[in-house]
Amino acid sequence: MAKSVHIRSGSAEYELPITDGTIRATDLRQIPTDDGPLATYDPGFVNTAACRSAITFIDGDAGVLEYRGYPIEQLAETSSYLEVAYLLLKGELPTPAQLAQWENDVNHHRLVHENAKDIISKSRYDSHPMAKLMSSVASLHAFYPGSRNISDPEEREVNVIRLLAKMPTLAAFAYRHSLGRNYIYPSDELNFIENFLAMLFKRQERHYKADERLVRAIDVLFILHADHEQNCSTNAVRAVASAGNDPYTSAVAGIAALFGPLHGGANEAVLKMLAEIGSVDRVPEFIEGVKAGRAKLMGFGHRVYKNYDPRARIIKKSAEEVFEVTGVNPRLKIAQELERIALGEEYFVSRKLYPNVDFYSGLIYEALSFPPAMFTVMFAVPRTSGWMAQWQEGVLDPEQKIMRPRQIYTGHRGRTWVPVQDR
Ligand code: SDX
Repeated sequence: MAKSVHIRSGSAEYELPITDGTIRATDLRQIPTDDGPLATYDPGFVNTAACRSAITFIDGDAGVLEYRGYPIEQLAETSSYLEVAYLLLKGELPTPAQLAQWENDVNHHRLVHENAKDIISKSRYDSHPMAKLMSSVASLHAFYPGSRNISDPEEREVNVIRLLAKMPTLAAFAYRHSLGRNYIYPSDELNFIENFLAMLFKRQERHYKADERLVRAIDVLFILHADHEQNCSTNAVRAVASAGNDPYTSAVAGIAALFGPLHGGANEAVLKMLAEIGSVDRVPEFIEGVKAGRAKLMGFGHRVYKNYDPRARIIKKSAEEVFEVTGVNPRLKIAQELERIALGEEYFVSRKLYPNVDFYSGLIYEALSFPPAMFTVMFAVPRTSGWMAQWQEGVLDPEQKIMRPRQIYTGHRGRTWVPVQDR
């Protein structure tokens, strides 16, 4: 395998060392070009490593996903979301005492300041819950001004825990606000996921406790959505963090990026697509439209996975457990027919397009009676643990600098301003 890149330019020769499968882009600058020192051009960072990370490993061709070296299949089968959040942030699985302390610490911080709640309650009831999440999370650093001191390890630790704990509360408040219902506060009688479901769905019952099959399904979905290396929203979190921002302000960038329909918003877009298709017999017509470039098959394709997304496989299994409680989502058959046809069509096979994490998750959320607008919120809540692990790693990485990419300038040069009456 190559150990270096040899470049000849005119009479000069250059040898650029390869480490970890990459060359350092700054090594190119020694090579002069007509447009200045040689640089790289990589829209969307399709082939550019922006950092070193020890958090999540993906082998896109093999469909492998590991958190801190543990296969996602094992974690989804045996772990809990809070244990996985600990693993992502600390790098090791907790001992029983560490896990008990961690769960206690997170659960202790589930309440939010009433002013933060007011930001949600004063927003339009029908504004998108992702917008309510962005505005309320953006307000949090005001209640914890010490969070701006990101060089203090104790401040980093407590504010990361606060945010992990408060995301479900803010998400539930956003949902209840959209329905015009009273807000349900966290209860110490319930664990992290049970409490989240109670804050979302409790009505007049004195003690609401969700069906344990639903609690387990949400716990698994949270594990699957916790982190995914340098995806769009994590890159946004790292970029904002690189300017010296606190975890709350950095997380807002992640929520904003995740809102996009090509990223976390895809689970909402999948249900809209299934509704538009309407029935199994109209699937072939829709597939023809995708092949003709008139639509995308939402929930399919991935920048890294060129194989089945391992999370999609596990979510399909969770869906069956949820449907035991809620009844089968009638749109499941349309999704299964879309997958069956797509996996056999040359258009998708040649482009290595497979179901991704968003293809089946929306069917579960719809079966749980979430409106589509809440689906991406269900992605943002667990992804907060990954964003915080990545935020922390970026803040502590001595190689990291404020992110400020180069550009290829294509505009005018050296023009003279003309008074408006002379234009
Ligand atoms: C997530 O990065 C992560 O890790 C993200 C994520 C995470 O956990 O953080 O995994 C979560 O965002 C999952 C992806 C959810 N998005 C969608 O399901 C939206 C639909 N998918 C596509 O928009 C697309 O596949 C992306 C955005 C996911 C990936 O886009 P890329 O890597 O930039 O690929 P591309 O757009 O260059 O596509 C290559 C080809 C193109 O065709 P040609 O120009 O070669 O003819 O494949 C086609 C694309 O048109 N293509 C699709 C398609 N996805 C790609 N054609 C139809 N339907 C699709 N879904």
